[in-house]
Amino acid sequence: MLLFAVVRIAPEFFIEEDHEIIQGPEAAAIDTQPTTVVAGPSLGELINIAAQNPSSRSFRKCQACHDATSGGPNKIGPNLWNIVGAAPGGKAGYSYSNAMTSKGGTWDYNALNEFLAAPSSAVPRTKMTFAGLRTMEERAAIIAYLRASADNPVPLPEVPVEDAPEETPAASR
Ligand code: HEC
Repeated sequence: MLLFAVVRIAPEFFIEEDHEIIQGPEAAAIDTQPTTVVAGPSLGELINIAAQNPSSRSFRKCQACHDATSGGPNKIGPNLWNIVGAAPGGKAGYSYSNAMTSKGGTWDYNALNEFLAAPSSAVPRTKMTFAGLRTMEERAAIIAYLRASADNPVPLPEVPVEDAPEETPAASR
Protein backbone atom coordinates (compact mmCIF):
# COMPACT_ATOMS: atom_id res chain seq x y z
CA MET A 1 0.00 0.00 0.00
CA LEU A 2 2.80 2.39 0.91
CA LEU A 3 4.77 1.47 -2.23
CA PHE A 4 1.70 2.18 -4.35
CA ALA A 5 1.43 5.63 -2.86
CA VAL A 6 5.07 6.44 -3.62
CA VAL A 7 4.68 5.39 -7.25
CA ARG A 8 1.58 7.51 -7.57
CA ILE A 9 3.29 10.57 -6.16
CA ALA A 10 6.63 10.24 -7.90
CA PRO A 11 5.75 11.50 -11.39
CA GLU A 12 4.28 14.72 -10.07
CA PHE A 13 7.29 15.17 -7.86
CA PHE A 14 9.63 15.03 -10.86
CA ILE A 15 7.51 17.38 -12.92
CA GLU A 16 7.58 19.89 -10.11
CA GLU A 17 11.35 19.82 -10.13
CA ASP A 18 11.55 20.93 -13.75
CA HIS A 19 8.72 23.39 -14.04
CA GLU A 20 7.29 25.62 -11.46
CA ILE A 21 3.66 24.67 -11.41
CA ILE A 22 1.52 27.62 -10.48
CA GLN A 23 -2.17 27.08 -10.12
CA GLY A 24 -5.23 28.95 -8.96
CA PRO A 25 -5.63 32.74 -8.79
CA GLU A 26 -1.86 33.27 -8.88
CA ALA A 27 -1.63 31.60 -12.29
CA ALA A 28 -4.41 33.75 -13.68
CA ALA A 29 -2.61 36.88 -12.51
CA ILE A 30 0.62 35.80 -14.20
CA ASP A 31 -1.13 34.93 -17.48
CA THR A 32 -2.56 38.40 -17.90
CA GLN A 33 0.71 40.22 -17.34
CA PRO A 34 2.07 41.76 -20.56
CA THR A 35 5.03 39.91 -21.97
CA THR A 36 8.13 42.06 -21.97
CA VAL A 37 10.30 41.20 -24.95
CA VAL A 38 13.86 42.15 -24.16
CA ALA A 39 15.40 42.66 -27.58
CA GLY A 40 19.16 42.38 -27.90
CA PRO A 41 21.23 44.63 -30.14
CA SER A 42 20.19 44.62 -33.80
CA LEU A 43 22.30 43.23 -36.64
CA GLY A 44 23.22 46.79 -37.64
CA GLU A 45 24.39 47.64 -34.14
CA LEU A 46 26.44 44.47 -33.86
CA ILE A 47 28.12 45.08 -37.23
CA ASN A 48 28.93 48.67 -36.19
CA ILE A 49 30.50 47.41 -32.99
CA ALA A 50 32.49 44.64 -34.70
CA ALA A 51 33.62 47.03 -37.45
CA GLN A 52 35.60 49.03 -34.88
CA ASN A 53 38.05 46.15 -34.80
CA PRO A 54 37.45 43.68 -37.64
CA SER A 55 39.35 40.51 -36.88
CA SER A 56 40.48 37.63 -39.06
CA ARG A 57 39.99 35.41 -35.99
CA SER A 58 36.26 35.60 -36.64
CA PHE A 59 36.92 34.07 -40.06
CA ARG A 60 38.60 30.90 -38.73
CA LYS A 61 35.59 28.65 -39.37
CA CYS A 62 35.51 29.73 -42.99
CA GLN A 63 39.20 29.44 -43.81
CA ALA A 64 39.20 25.75 -44.67
CA CYS A 65 37.13 26.66 -47.71
CA HIS A 66 37.60 30.40 -48.30
CA ASP A 67 40.39 32.89 -48.81
CA ALA A 68 39.33 36.50 -48.26
CA THR A 69 42.47 38.33 -49.39
CA SER A 70 42.82 40.56 -52.43
CA GLY A 71 43.85 38.44 -55.41
CA GLY A 72 43.70 35.31 -53.26
CA PRO A 73 42.67 31.94 -54.70
CA ASN A 74 39.33 30.24 -54.94
CA LYS A 75 39.49 27.20 -52.65
CA ILE A 76 36.64 24.76 -52.03
CA GLY A 77 34.56 27.93 -51.98
CA PRO A 78 35.14 31.17 -53.90
CA ASN A 79 37.49 33.97 -52.85
CA LEU A 80 35.53 36.41 -50.68
CA TRP A 81 37.43 39.70 -51.24
CA ASN A 82 34.86 42.39 -52.19
CA ILE A 83 31.95 40.05 -51.39
CA VAL A 84 29.83 42.51 -49.35
CA GLY A 85 27.57 44.28 -51.83
CA ALA A 86 28.48 41.89 -54.66
CA ALA A 87 26.07 39.74 -56.67
CA PRO A 88 25.83 36.11 -55.46
CA GLY A 89 27.64 33.65 -57.68
CA GLY A 90 29.73 36.27 -59.46
CA LYS A 91 33.39 35.43 -58.78
CA ALA A 92 35.31 34.76 -61.98
CA GLY A 93 36.85 31.34 -62.35
CA TYR A 94 34.74 29.66 -59.69
CA SER A 95 32.24 26.95 -60.52
CA TYR A 96 29.11 27.72 -58.47
CA SER A 97 25.99 25.62 -57.97
CA ASN A 98 22.94 26.63 -60.02
CA ALA A 99 21.33 27.46 -56.69
CA MET A 100 23.90 30.17 -56.04
CA THR A 101 24.04 31.69 -59.55
CA SER A 102 20.24 31.92 -59.63
CA LYS A 103 19.89 33.37 -56.10
CA GLY A 104 19.70 36.97 -57.34
CA GLY A 105 19.88 40.15 -55.26
CA THR A 106 23.12 41.27 -53.64
CA TRP A 107 25.11 40.13 -50.65
CA ASP A 108 23.93 42.96 -48.42
CA TYR A 109 24.09 42.74 -44.64
CA ASN A 110 20.73 41.01 -44.26
CA ALA A 111 21.36 38.50 -47.04
CA LEU A 112 24.73 37.55 -45.54
CA ASN A 113 23.26 37.29 -42.06
CA GLU A 114 20.54 34.94 -43.30
CA PHE A 115 22.93 32.85 -45.38
CA LEU A 116 25.49 32.45 -42.57
CA ALA A 117 22.77 31.50 -40.07
CA ALA A 118 21.60 28.60 -42.23
CA PRO A 119 23.21 28.33 -45.68
CA SER A 120 21.01 25.53 -47.00
CA SER A 121 17.78 27.26 -45.93
CA ALA A 122 18.80 30.63 -47.36
CA VAL A 123 20.03 29.09 -50.62
CA PRO A 124 18.45 25.63 -50.98
CA ARG A 125 20.82 23.14 -52.68
CA THR A 126 23.86 25.38 -52.27
CA LYS A 127 27.06 23.38 -52.35
CA MET A 128 28.39 25.24 -49.30
CA THR A 129 28.24 22.36 -46.82
CA PHE A 130 28.35 24.38 -43.64
CA ALA A 131 25.76 24.05 -40.88
CA GLY A 132 25.58 27.75 -40.04
CA LEU A 133 26.41 30.04 -37.13
CA ARG A 134 23.98 30.17 -34.25
CA THR A 135 24.59 33.62 -32.78
CA MET A 136 24.06 36.94 -34.50
CA GLU A 137 27.19 38.25 -32.69
CA GLU A 138 29.36 35.73 -34.47
CA ARG A 139 27.72 36.37 -37.83
CA ALA A 140 28.11 40.13 -37.36
CA ALA A 141 31.81 39.74 -36.51
CA ILE A 142 32.40 37.78 -39.72
CA ILE A 143 30.33 40.20 -41.80
CA ALA A 144 32.34 43.13 -40.38
CA TYR A 145 35.55 41.30 -41.31
CA LEU A 146 34.28 40.62 -44.84
CA ARG A 147 33.19 44.26 -45.17
CA ALA A 148 36.74 45.36 -44.33
CA SER A 149 38.12 42.82 -46.84
CA ALA A 150 37.38 45.06 -49.81
CA ASP A 151 38.91 47.72 -52.03
CA ASN A 152 36.16 50.16 -50.98
CA PRO A 153 34.23 48.90 -47.94
CA VAL A 154 30.50 49.58 -48.31
CA PRO A 155 28.96 52.01 -45.76
CA LEU A 156 28.22 50.58 -42.34
CA PRO A 157 24.56 49.87 -41.60
CA GLU A 158 22.73 52.92 -40.30
CA VAL A 159 21.70 52.65 -36.69
CA PRO A 160 19.09 54.99 -35.16
CA VAL A 161 20.96 57.58 -33.10
CA GLU A 162 19.37 56.67 -29.78
CA ASP A 163 20.44 53.03 -30.32
CA ALA A 164 23.92 53.78 -31.60
CA PRO A 165 26.62 51.82 -29.82
CA GLU A 166 28.66 53.89 -27.42
CA GLU A 167 32.18 54.53 -28.56
CA THR A 168 34.63 52.29 -26.83
CA PRO A 169 37.74 53.88 -25.37
CA ALA A 170 39.79 52.08 -28.08
CA ALA A 171 37.82 53.74 -30.86
CA SER A 172 38.02 57.25 -29.43
CA ARG A 173 41.73 57.14 -28.78
C1 HEC B 1 33.06 23.30 -46.16
C2 HEC B 1 33.48 24.42 -46.99
C3 HEC B 1 32.92 25.78 -46.64
C4 HEC B 1 32.94 26.43 -45.44
C5 HEC B 1 33.46 25.94 -44.11
C6 HEC B 1 32.37 27.74 -45.69
N1 HEC B 1 32.03 27.87 -47.01
FE1 HEC B 1 31.22 29.51 -47.90
N2 HEC B 1 31.08 28.51 -49.64
C7 HEC B 1 31.51 27.22 -49.86
C8 HEC B 1 31.15 26.81 -51.21
C9 HEC B 1 31.45 25.45 -51.83
C10 HEC B 1 30.48 27.92 -51.78
C11 HEC B 1 29.83 27.98 -53.16
C12 HEC B 1 28.35 27.70 -52.93
C13 HEC B 1 27.53 27.39 -54.18
O1 HEC B 1 28.00 27.58 -55.31
O2 HEC B 1 26.38 26.97 -53.98
C14 HEC B 1 30.45 28.97 -50.77
C15 HEC B 1 29.89 30.22 -50.96
C16 HEC B 1 29.92 31.25 -50.04
C17 HEC B 1 29.43 32.58 -50.26
C18 HEC B 1 28.82 33.10 -51.55
C19 HEC B 1 29.95 33.60 -52.44
C20 HEC B 1 29.52 34.24 -53.74
O3 HEC B 1 30.42 34.58 -54.55
O4 HEC B 1 28.32 34.42 -53.99
C21 HEC B 1 29.67 33.30 -49.14
C22 HEC B 1 29.34 34.75 -48.88
C23 HEC B 1 30.30 32.39 -48.20
N3 HEC B 1 30.44 31.17 -48.78
C24 HEC B 1 30.70 32.76 -46.94
C25 HEC B 1 31.22 31.86 -45.99
C26 HEC B 1 31.60 32.25 -44.66
C27 HEC B 1 31.56 33.66 -44.10
C28 HEC B 1 31.99 31.11 -44.03
C29 HEC B 1 32.42 30.94 -42.58
C30 HEC B 1 31.40 31.19 -41.59
C31 HEC B 1 31.89 30.02 -44.98
N4 HEC B 1 31.43 30.53 -46.16
C32 HEC B 1 32.24 28.71 -44.72
C33 HEC B 1 32.18 26.42 -48.96
C34 HEC B 1 32.35 26.70 -47.61
